[in-house]
Amino acid sequence: MCGIVGFVGTENAKERIVDGLKRLEYRGYDSAGIALPIDGKIQIRKHVGEITNLEKIIADDSFDAPVGIGHTRWATHGAPSDINAHPHGNQDDSIAIVHNGIIENYQEIREWLAREYGVQFKSETDSEVIAHLIGIYYDGDLLSAVNKAVEDMRGAYAVCAIAAAEPDKIVAVRKDAPLVAGIGRGCNFIASDIPALLKYVREVYLIENNETVVLTKDDITIYNDRGQKVKRDVFHVNWDADAAEKEGYDHFMIKEIHEQPKGIQETLMRRVDEEGNINLDGIAMTKEDIEGFNKVYIVACGTAYHAGLVGKSLIEKLAKIPVEVDVASEFRYRDPFVDENTLFIAISQSGETLDTLAALREAKAKGARILSVVNVVGSSVARESDDVFYTWAGPEIAVASTKAYTTQLICMYLIALYMGRTKGILSQGEYDRILNELKALPEKVEEILAKEEQLAFLAKKFHHKEHVFFIGRGLDCGVSYEGSLKLKEISYIHSFAIAAGELKHGTIALMDPDSLVVALATQDDLYEKMVSNIVEVTARGARVIGMAKEGRVEIEQVADEAVYIPSCADEVTPVLTVIPLQIFAYYVAKERGCNIDKPKNLAKSVTVE
Ligand code: M6R
Repeated sequence: MCGIVGFVGTENAKERIVDGLKRLEYRGYDSAGIALPIDGKIQIRKHVGEITNLEKIIADDSFDAPVGIGHTRWATHGAPSDINAHPHGNQDDSIAIVHNGIIENYQEIREWLAREYGVQFKSETDSEVIAHLIGIYYDGDLLSAVNKAVEDMRGAYAVCAIAAAEPDKIVAVRKDAPLVAGIGRGCNFIASDIPALLKYVREVYLIENNETVVLTKDDITIYNDRGQKVKRDVFHVNWDADAAEKEGYDHFMIKEIHEQPKGIQETLMRRVDEEGNINLDGIAMTKEDIEGFNKVYIVACGTAYHAGLVGKSLIEKLAKIPVEVDVASEFRYRDPFVDENTLFIAISQSGETLDTLAALREAKAKGARILSVVNVVGSSVARESDDVFYTWAGPEIAVASTKAYTTQLICMYLIALYMGRTKGILSQGEYDRILNELKALPEKVEEILAKEEQLAFLAKKFHHKEHVFFIGRGLDCGVSYEGSLKLKEISYIHSFAIAAGELKHGTIALMDPDSLVVALATQDDLYEKMVSNIVEVTARGARVIGMAKEGRVEIEQVADEAVYIPSCADEVTPVLTVIPLQIFAYYVAKERGCNIDKPKNLAKSVTVE
């Protein structure tokens, strides 16, 4: 996904910008570039591929300045190429911009600029129109030119602009794409994401939607869309830059898998007091609000959506409220039944997923109460929600989500328990029983992590398979989807998840001796049915890895391999069952020599539609 870094100081903008861009590499990108005002002109250098390619073409000492903007691009309009890479300049490169997001009416603007101003475009991007718009409105005041340009633009954007005639400043503006200003000493920064700045600053201003910000080396001024100065509290970033390092693991993914006991513990601790009460500090939702909800929508994308599938079972079971789970890209376009008695729960690690954000706005416009489950503090989803239930996973760097998922699950348990108890539906005994099961999870996850070698062995044995099926029933079904996603996204093996009972309605036709089936059989009351499903697929020659609770040794008689999770209540199995699936996916991808932390075609945070 695209990343922006800008610097205003007295020297060495190039070094700071390149360093910041490298810290955003984990988001995925296909080209990188930098623009600096040098001797009354703006010089732009950009290159397709990794940042090291860019470094080679900016190595000369004469290419540096006290001010500059840089970008890593993830192609949306126009293929990855040097020309399509950012920054983009206007006709005479007196203005340069970097842009995250999409300009929806860029074709219209392109035609107008060509017709009225004879603009000749260099790239195929939507972003280039921004540089030309600012260029035609520029009369010596970059701020006013940027403000005029955005009036013409429709879509989502975080834009940073520099002008050759004002080489001491950056003007930035945002709408539906994140932007953060870093407060330095005698210098200031602007970036799309906090990690880009952490080497240099810890105090930042979170720029809100439709705000414009002017940065000079001594000052950061934020303006609202009416041109009024806005006072913003300083946000202190207290997470450590070291948390973004691999700490001896080969990949961020496996490091993050191992961080799950801590993340689960932390997420529980933040909300459960010593007496076992769930505190909703900072959440304004009242007992009356909860009693008034007649429907819950859980909306998210990818892994977060899979957490929502488990959330549905929990809320329906523990709080007895009907729940619909939807992928955000579908929800937002299908005019869903939402009103003021609806609780809308958005789940998002990044808090910047465009579809999730758009779905949230759709629900909000219809009067729903918005509760979000988010990992990144201060992200757009968090800011636009009525209430936020943070996950305490810490920064997740690997594209494949692991610790975000398990902490999202913990939040879903706490929300369901709280609602059930508040409505008086859940007895104190049941509440205590489930809470105690949750509290025991960090230790049980550690037990599973200790079986890493077994899963590495299974990965060695099965990594050559080209088709893998994940099956389960009840809560295991939702976890199957997540196991399947994990495997396909990092190993590029075709995998498919299905409710085990659905097999015989079509999918079983695919079973043959080349198939691998991962069968989740952790639900006590559905165990025998799962055993039957395993027998059905082995009868067609499929190989099976069966997963069950410790003590369920019968599974060894029907499956080729058995993986056990520690004994626990059925309700909490998803948090445990997913761990071996994550580890298995990791080692399969490793066996196949894949780029585990940055799988091809994927980005960590999907801020485009
Ligand atoms: O940041 P979000 O949780 O909103 O991201 C949603 C999905 O893009 C994300 O969960 C994705 O599916 C995972 N990275 C896959 O591991």
